[in-house]
Amino acid sequence: MTAPSTPDNALSQLRDVPAPGKLNLFLHVTGRRDDGYHLLQSVFMLIDWCDRLDFTLRPDGQLSREDVGPSLPPDDLCLRAARALREATGCPLGAHIRVTKHLPAEAGLGGGSSDAATCLLALNRLWGLGLNRTALRRIGERLGADVPFFLGGRNAWVEGVGEHLTPVSVPAARFAVVKPPSGASTPTIFSSPDLKRDTKTAIIQGFAANDKSEHPVIDFRRIAEASGNDLQPVAQVLCPEVGDCIDWLQSQGLQGRMTGSGTAVFALLPTAQHLLPGPGNWVIHECSNMDVHPLIDWCSD
Ligand code: C5P
Repeated sequence: MTAPSTPDNALSQLRDVPAPGKLNLFLHVTGRRDDGYHLLQSVFMLIDWCDRLDFTLRPDGQLSREDVGPSLPPDDLCLRAARALREATGCPLGAHIRVTKHLPAEAGLGGGSSDAATCLLALNRLWGLGLNRTALRRIGERLGADVPFFLGGRNAWVEGVGEHLTPVSVPAARFAVVKPPSGASTPTIFSSPDLKRDTKTAIIQGFAANDKSEHPVIDFRRIAEASGNDLQPVAQVLCPEVGDCIDWLQSQGLQGRMTGSGTAVFALLPTAQHLLPGPGNWVIHECSNMDVHPLIDWCSD
């Protein structure tokens, strides 16, 4: 078999490409679609805690993956993203994807979805495909509800099942993120009969400071006062350590809340404050938010 010809604009390697995590500043479930997916309202915010991925061109057309740190499932979202991009474009090229995991799994930090978005952005470049953001989003939507956010590149007010994104600005801030050892399965939490699914829809202005800039500026105080995470009560029953993490943050004067479907919780961290040491089996991490995705210039709108 002859090797497929490599386009002139294909690259041979992309190294140390970031896949940032996210925090959901709040998460309301406002309804359910006929296909079982839930209608949400949320603010998704990028954080500078990232997985790192390396991509090497494989002109033999094979796709392969290597994990550094915790192993991913054999058919994880990285390979599925690569296959979906090839199917959509007919690209005959392959790639070796090396994933260095830093973001804990089953945390609600969006690690798997962000890795998938980074694969789409990086392979689009490596293979010289030139797809724009809209085309990549169409592919990403089928991989997972959070993937379009990471492809959008900006902090966002999110509605629908995760596909309606309105860019927002978020003031620069530091956050404490705490992840207990047990994780939570997103489908299990969403399918719980105890999940509250009828939170009243809100408008962005209810959560934004009165500002005339292009994007509404999110007001952390209003978010803390006027919202919550509807998935948290269900996750806390399945994993009582979520409550322990929140209590531990509270003992340091910090208001903790779960992100996504958990089990990580986070709190706004005052500038001068650092966290006390916690139980040895918890992941405790301090991070900052990011204004835009580090790969925002890797494709055109
Ligand atoms: O899309 P993703 O694979 O991230 O979602 C995992 C699961 O979470 C879905 O299979 C679905 O059960 C649930 N989910 C939902 N509504 C959403 C997002 C996820 O019901 N908006």
